[in-house]
Order: sequence, then structure tokens, then C-alpha cells
Amino acid sequence: MVRFEGVGLRYEMASKAGASPEVLHDLNFSLSEGVFRWLLGPSGAGKTSLLRLMYLAVAPTRGRLLVLGTDVSRAPRRSLPRMRRRIGVVFQDFRLLPHLSAFDNVALPLRIAGRPEGQVRADVTEMLRWVGLAKRLMAFPSELSGGEQQRVAIARAVIARPSLLLADEPTGNLDDTQAERLMQLLSEMSRLGTTVVVATHNERLVARHPAPALLLDNGRLVGHQ
Ligand SMILES: Nc1ncnc2c1ncn2[C@@H]1O[C@H](COP(=O)(O)OP(=O)(O)OP(=O)(O)O)[C@@H](O)[C@H]1O
Ligand SMILES: [Mg+2]
Repeated sequence: MVRFEGVGLRYEMASKAGASPEVLHDLNFSLSEGVFRWLLGPSGAGKTSLLRLMYLAVAPTRGRLLVLGTDVSRAPRRSLPRMRRRIGVVFQDFRLLPHLSAFDNVALPLRIAGRPEGQVRADVTEMLRWVGLAKRLMAFPSELSGGEQQRVAIARAVIARPSLLLADEPTGNLDDTQAERLMQLLSEMSRLGTTVVVATHNERLVARHPAPALLLDNGRLVGHQ
């Protein structure tokens, strides 16, 4: 499903002359289908960068990375959008489309996949009800609280049942009850075969839901179960 072989990542810095520092070094691990992994480590350790590699927003600067069985550095660029459609992402900063309602944000992945509108309506309504937003379907992101926006972002990431689900601090704006509901959703997806990776600083949540973790420190994998 996902395999890192000696992967390093360096961001290109347009503003600065000279080589930028490597932010991820010598990553070696693999994730098989349907596993759940926490992604842990201090702020700046490289969690978001690691997720970016997995959702194909950046390419490794060295090493080999396989995502969904494809070597991403060898794959032609035109094949990436098709791969991305199989990856659900909850961004740390949500990235909802501001001109679309909560409903239309969540419907987007289904519409891109060409699902019939009747099914889109039913699935999106049910999903938004599940995350407690049944009454906010037509609200725009600017009219929603941080926690409400985060729940829309979660709904959008899972609605099309992706093969790989990557969540970056998905409980940052949620209360405990909502965070538990999210965990139910994620473990159900993993049970159905989605590979799930969740970056978090929420130690209580991790303690309540023991699972293997990828532990990053200063760009290195220092623990991997
Ligand atoms: N676009 C970028 N250009 C240059 N450097 C970057 C960029 N994004 C992140 N970095 C650097 O890469 C390192 C890892 O950042 P990253 O965002 O992956 O950390 P993180 O573990 O997600 O932190 P947090 O817990 O605060 O979200 C940091 O030193 C950061 O400054
Ligand atoms: Mg981050």
C-alpha cells in the first residue's frame, strides 16, 4: 500500500540561495492495507511533510516511495490525479472551498467520481448527520466554527471511501465527544480495508485508542511498531 525506502525530503526555497536543509531523513517503513497508524512527534518533527509525501503533494528528493502500489517518482505526472482520487486527506488547515456550502464541499469527491446525484444527496446528508452537522448543510465555510469546519473536512476526506486516509491533527478543534466519533469512523474505515494515518498531538486520544505509531523526531523515524 505504502512503502518508504531510504526516503529524504528537502523543500526548495525560492528566496534563499544555497541548498535548503533536509527535513526528513532516511525513512524506511511500509504500511499494508487496512492498518491504522498514529503519526506522532513534536511540532516541526516532519509529520505534515511525511503526509504530503503520501498524498503526492511533494516528491521525495532521494530514495524510493511507493504509494498504492505505484513508484511515485517514476509514475508519469498525468497518472497522479487518478491516484489522488483514491487518497482522502484531512488538512491541518481544513482547505474547504470557500464558495461552496458544507454539502457541496463534501459532495465534491463523489461528483468527481461521477456518482449519480441521488446517491450523492443520500450519502452526503448521512455523513454530515453523522458528524453532527445535519442542520448546517447549506452553510458556507466562513459561517462555520473551527470545529464545524474540521468536521466538514473530515466528512469530505472519508465520503468516497478512499484506499488511503491521511489526517493531519484532525481533532485540533473538536471536543472529546466529537473526537471519539471521529475515532469510530476511522476504525470502521480501517476495518473495511482503508489504510489510515493520523498525525496528532492529542495524547489523551492516543492513550484511549492504543495502536501502532510512527514516531518522528527531527525528521527521523525514531520509533516504528
Ligand atoms: N513549505 C516549506 N518550505 C520549507 N520548509 C518547510 C516547509 N514546510 C515545512 N517546512 C519545515 O519542515 C520541518 C517539518 O515541518 P512539518 O510541517 O512537517 O512539521 P510537523 O511535525 O507537521 O509540525 P506541527 O506539529 O507543528 O504541525 C520544519 O522545520 C518546517 O519549518
Ligand atoms: Mg503539521
